[in-house]
Amino acid sequence: MAANPDYPSLAALHRNFIWGVSTSSFQVEGATREDGRGQSVWDTRCQLGKIANGDTGDIACDHYHRYPEDIALMQRLGVQAYRFSVAWPRVLPQGRGAANESGLAFYDRLIDALLAANIEPWLCLYHWDMPQALDDLGGWTNRESVAWFADYAALAARRYGGRVRRFATFNEPSIFTLFGQGFGKESDTSDDLRRRAIHHVNLAHGAAVDAIRTHAPGSLIGCIHNYQPCLPSTPADKDAAALADAYWNRVFPDPQHLGAYPQLLRAAMEAHIQSGDMERICRPLDWFGLNHYGPNYIKTDAGARFGFGFGDKPAGTALTPIGWATDSDAFRDTLLIVSKDYRLPVYVTENGIGASEKLDAGGAVIDKVRINYLRDHIGAMNAAAAAGADVRGYFVWSLLDNFEWDSGYNVRFGIVYMDYPTLRRIPKASFEWYRGLIKAARAR
Ligand code: FCB
Repeated sequence: MAANPDYPSLAALHRNFIWGVSTSSFQVEGATREDGRGQSVWDTRCQLGKIANGDTGDIACDHYHRYPEDIALMQRLGVQAYRFSVAWPRVLPQGRGAANESGLAFYDRLIDALLAANIEPWLCLYHWDMPQALDDLGGWTNRESVAWFADYAALAARRYGGRVRRFATFNEPSIFTLFGQGFGKESDTSDDLRRRAIHHVNLAHGAAVDAIRTHAPGSLIGCIHNYQPCLPSTPADKDAAALADAYWNRVFPDPQHLGAYPQLLRAAMEAHIQSGDMERICRPLDWFGLNHYGPNYIKTDAGARFGFGFGDKPAGTALTPIGWATDSDAFRDTLLIVSKDYRLPVYVTENGIGASEKLDAGGAVIDKVRINYLRDHIGAMNAAAAAGADVRGYFVWSLLDNFEWDSGYNVRFGIVYMDYPTLRRIPKASFEWYRGLIKAARAR
């Protein structure tokens, strides 16, 4: 397929730069009731009818059964790495206690097939699908969650360590603590309860790092953060934007890497900190995972969680088809900021755009808008590297169209189109474009 052949310069990128694609368990696996998997908070949310069109994760992309086909697609694409997540309730149906051998065996098969295809598995422990049994006990608001998560991390490290070298503790802790589930049965939570959960997730991260180092020595461990410039929607929203920056971008990386909560939040976090906690959170890490989409425009909103909300975007802001702001210069700047502040190799673990696409009359998806976005952002990444950012890898979100949380299957982020009724995978023009880019990059 003649896609846009126009590739950005890659000249400043690291010699061993890694190209990859990302997915997550609940978004692609399906098989939610198979082989002893337990219920997750996202199954519950689907059953409560909270998802657009009443969609559920029951089948999703059926990656649970079709992973060999997906790995074949990755091989064709030429990626060196695949970032996926383990569904905690698949391997520990009650979240703790007895492990589920068939669930563990699924990830054995996946990992072994990836290794056989010469694709490095990047394993993330938590991409939001908390076991419902633990949520019933208060989820992350319960300090016991630190021990639950550490035990789960130890199980995964013992089982997969060696074959898996790259472990991530959490995906976007700021996003699920701001907007997500896992704080006790779909309940409304006060700001202070959310802050308590933030602190427990930070502690769980530190405890998991220790568990992985013990049970899978030699692993390279990181945490994956959603980090976007938080800009004031109007000049009057400056303070709200600073608050958003603290909660969205810094409340996890700062304690994890620098040993302290952001100045702006110190007083508010104080009530939850026990003696020794900050040392438990701040463990040496090997890399920084950055998920980036585009800038946030923030307004003051006294009634909203933590006192800020999304404001209007300035006239003329470039938007993706689902209305997210996009600005590749913001991506370049973000890479420079996280590289300078946290002083670790940065891997872009998610980047991409969503759209509501359909097959055209020829049965194809010519997603020029996605190609342009990827080209601009990969170009901006090269510019960041040229300006000194230590960026070492890039993963497109996502390999496949998949279950996009509350938006269900309506919003498509894949470079491969999912024909949901047949589960047929149809590579989009962006797949061919990315394939050509990787080929050019690896030939350097
Ligand atoms: C990120 C999530 C990922 C996906 C993309 C679009 O915040 O980590 O699961 O939904 O957004």
